[in-house]
Amino acid sequence: MRNIMITLGEYIIKNQADYPSATGELSSLLSSIRRAAKIVNREINRAGLVTDIIGGSNGSENVQGEVQQKLDVFANDMFKNALEARGEVCGIASEEEDHYVAFDDERQSNAKYIVLMDPLDGSSNIDVNVSVGTIFSIYRRVSEPGQPVTMDDFLQPGVNQVAAGYVVYGSSTMLVYTTGNGVHGFTYDPTLGSFCLSHENIRIPEQGYIYSINEGNYIRFPEGVKKYLKFCQEKDESSKRPYSSRYIGSLVSDFHRNMLKGGIYIYPSGTNSPNGKLRLLYECNPLAFMAEQAGGKATDGFRRIMEIKPTELHQRTPYFVGSIDMVNKADEMMAEFS
Ligand code: AHG
Ligand code: MN
Ligand code: MN
Ligand code: MN
Repeated sequence: MRNIMITLGEYIIKNQADYPSATGELSSLLSSIRRAAKIVNREINRAGLVTDIIGGSNGSENVQGEVQQKLDVFANDMFKNALEARGEVCGIASEEEDHYVAFDDERQSNAKYIVLMDPLDGSSNIDVNVSVGTIFSIYRRVSEPGQPVTMDDFLQPGVNQVAAGYVVYGSSTMLVYTTGNGVHGFTYDPTLGSFCLSHENIRIPEQGYIYSINEGNYIRFPEGVKKYLKFCQEKDESSKRPYSSRYIGSLVSDFHRNMLKGGIYIYPSGTNSPNGKLRLLYECNPLAFMAEQAGGKATDGFRRIMEIKPTELHQRTPYFVGSIDMVNKADEMMAEFS
């Protein structure tokens, strides 16, 4: 019998029924992310046609010192406005905002949640029509309800996340999320204007045969990473090596492929970047939550990503994420050779 199409909205409500304690606020929050994702998706699909509006660089730099693409700023504003429009979120932090943004409308001062996001991941790929993404991470506030949010609300370890997800704007657009009960993927059907359930309870294969890393930085890698890459490239039929190398240059796209097929993504420290490039709070933690929920693993080469106690909003961390057997092997080599 043909699968009955379940939309993301229906799925959230159905799952909501399984948790009587949930008051529907998280469901409503996820719905505002869903709506913003549809708008950003529409603009990404037109990027080549409206370069004056959303193509190319914005001419400004973000706090990371990166040149902002117009679509970085557009996506940031779309998600920020969508989250501010309802009453569930009391503040957000974003790759594209220097500081966290407190929503000071009195409706929000009693709101329960804060959201951290990378509104557009892989933005250097926009003008060459390669997949990009959005990443989000949701926590309960820890500060007093009714009071403005504080930095402590945003500097929580990843283990405190109540939900996380990403949108991958690829050959099809998918929204994939977890609320701590497995990872579920929804594919956007433009003819319906809905995200429809396509990948329920995603499990990442324990062993994969794909490694994903920017090998252009090889000479700067720690010895343990160099040794792991040589391990991946050795011929060993019994363990199906050499593995395949795949690097899209969009974290969300490389991560999503590994979630479905198995594999490891590594962005290590370098002699010129002691903490690597990726940001702990709105890239590494949300994807780590999803990897673990799907049976995978995420470390900095030595410790579990989600147990790192953040000290700064935009702090970076070396990142090893994907199939648990592959991350364990890479960590083993980091311990042995670093
Ligand atoms: P963002 O576009 O949000 O700044 O993130 C870019 C990240 C990530 O998406 C990607 O995997 C990585 O940067 C690519 O970095 P390199 O170009 O240094 O390989
Ligand atoms: Mn960026
Ligand atoms: Mn990013
Ligand atoms: Mn980004």
